[in-house]
Amino acid sequence: MAKTAEDFASAQKEIGVAEFFARNRHLLGFDNKLKALLTTVKEAVDNALDACEEAEILPEVAVEIIEMEPERFRVIIEDNGPGIVKKQIPRIFAKLLYGSKFHRLRMSRGQQGIGISAAVLYAQLTTGRPVKIMSKTGPTEKAHYFELHIDTKKNEPEIIKDELMDWPKDHGVRIELDIEAQYQKGPRSVDSFLKYTAITNPHATLIYTNPKAEQLIFARVSDVLPPLPQEIKPHPYGVELGNLLQMLKSADSLNISSFLQSEFSRVSPQVAKELCQVASILPTTKPDEISRDQADALIKAIKQTKIMGPPTDCISPIGEELLLKGLKKEINAEFYAAVSRVPDVYRGNPFVIEVALAYGGEQSSEEQVNLLRYANRVPLLFQQGADAATKAITSVDFKPYGLSQSRGAIPVGPCTIAVHIASVWVPFTSESKEAIAHYPEILKEMKLAFQEVGRKLASYVSKKQRVGHELKKRSYIEQFVPHVADTLIELLELPAAKKADIERNLITILEQERGEIKEIAQENTEFDENFAQIGDEEEKDEF
Ligand SMILES: Nc1ncnc2c1ncn2[C@@H]1O[C@H](COP(=O)(O)OP(=O)(O)OP(=O)(O)O)[C@@H](O)[C@H]1O
Ligand SMILES: [Mg+2]
Repeated sequence: MAKTAEDFASAQKEIGVAEFFARNRHLLGFDNKLKALLTTVKEAVDNALDACEEAEILPEVAVEIIEMEPERFRVIIEDNGPGIVKKQIPRIFAKLLYGSKFHRLRMSRGQQGIGISAAVLYAQLTTGRPVKIMSKTGPTEKAHYFELHIDTKKNEPEIIKDELMDWPKDHGVRIELDIEAQYQKGPRSVDSFLKYTAITNPHATLIYTNPKAEQLIFARVSDVLPPLPQEIKPHPYGVELGNLLQMLKSADSLNISSFLQSEFSRVSPQVAKELCQVASILPTTKPDEISRDQADALIKAIKQTKIMGPPTDCISPIGEELLLKGLKKEINAEFYAAVSRVPDVYRGNPFVIEVALAYGGEQSSEEQVNLLRYANRVPLLFQQGADAATKAITSVDFKPYGLSQSRGAIPVGPCTIAVHIASVWVPFTSESKEAIAHYPEILKEMKLAFQEVGRKLASYVSKKQRVGHELKKRSYIEQFVPHVADTLIELLELPAAKKADIERNLITILEQERGEIKEIAQENTEFDENFAQIGDEEEKDEF
């Protein structure tokens, strides 16, 4: 029998957010066992680094993965951050969409408030084990130990254990999760993730024990914390109608003019006046009296009005010097270069693109460039094809810069290229935060950064080629001059003792002939000796 609306009504009910994500775990980066291990580590490490930086503590994060039985791993992550107060622990770890970063505009690794609780949910689904948390907020405090489950129907924490404990540590958090997973080395492994994390976080020390009980220590190379980014208000260029209506409804400003000035960045009294004028709204109108049509007119007025770009102290780019330091620490190469662009804006959100490159060394010349993608200092290891960086790099012609490349493909050559987007809100293509969306402003900035760093590479590669040619020529001269000297002695019947003089004169004449090129040949002596360390020299760009 055909169903009626009433039949449908009896089946219609609310879907809990935890239930939804339990079913759609792939949206959060848990679509297979290999990836699940990486995502779990990544969420905890991101949080640890964020917390340390916000508390202005140089991060020291320990990651340990133990194989308990086939395809079952215990993941332990411990940080030296500020810790978490007792009351917040259950909700942070056992309630999805709960966090401190979603509602603010400031650069951080986390932004959604779902990361760590998603890992807890995955652990619960695959092994049934609770998450175990230890948190301590100061040297004189006791540590709080919790064991938690998520009530997936209600999306609420279920406390299994809540105890006070001694923990020989001043402050920090330790998380222990049992998950179903697979461990493998390679470009998308936890090992690679931590190595790449060390590149963009030269101020952090990471101590990693992998399931083979091998310990890797990525020691910090900088004792300077990144400048703490400032929180900013949204920029008018990024606001949409629905958003504005919501803000107007809950506003406590007395009139629309002060509302615009207090809720948005870069709206001065003058700009507020202009916006009201263009939208034909009295500046004294109360925000909650603004009609839908008036709000629409305001949005149109914003688009027509020139408003200064948002402040950029809300982002803290890595900077060329530290990017080079990080790259040199982890990638062995001959030549390094980095570019940090000036900030730009997409949909009202400021962002900065940075690109660094390591060329030569033991990297293969036959394979595609190793493209490392980062968002707010976090390496992105999946969905390279969908990422704006891939689109940008394939739109640049790398041949003039000394790499080979088929049309529309990633260049080929002995090179690692790292591209970093730092932003108050990174536009990921999905909740699992794996790829950057193709905003035209972002693509353009990435392209310009690739070109800028490409030009630095070109001058190195061409100099290297020139020097190579010169070395070859000189070796020919050195090889043939003795024969020519012998022939001259024979032809001109000169005494054999003159041979050394003749050789010297011949070399002088030939070198003079080669004019300015001789200069390079002289450089070569040093070049020969220092070749392996060229990239480390201060004047590396010279090559
Ligand atoms: N190790 C930690 N030390 C201190 N605070 C933490 C730690 N881990 C998490 N938090 C707090 O818990 C909140 C929730 O973390 P969670 O990873 O779920 O979300 P998020 O980091 O805000 O965003 P995202 O979902 O993008 O990761 C964080 O916003 C932070 O305030
Ligand atoms: Mg997080």
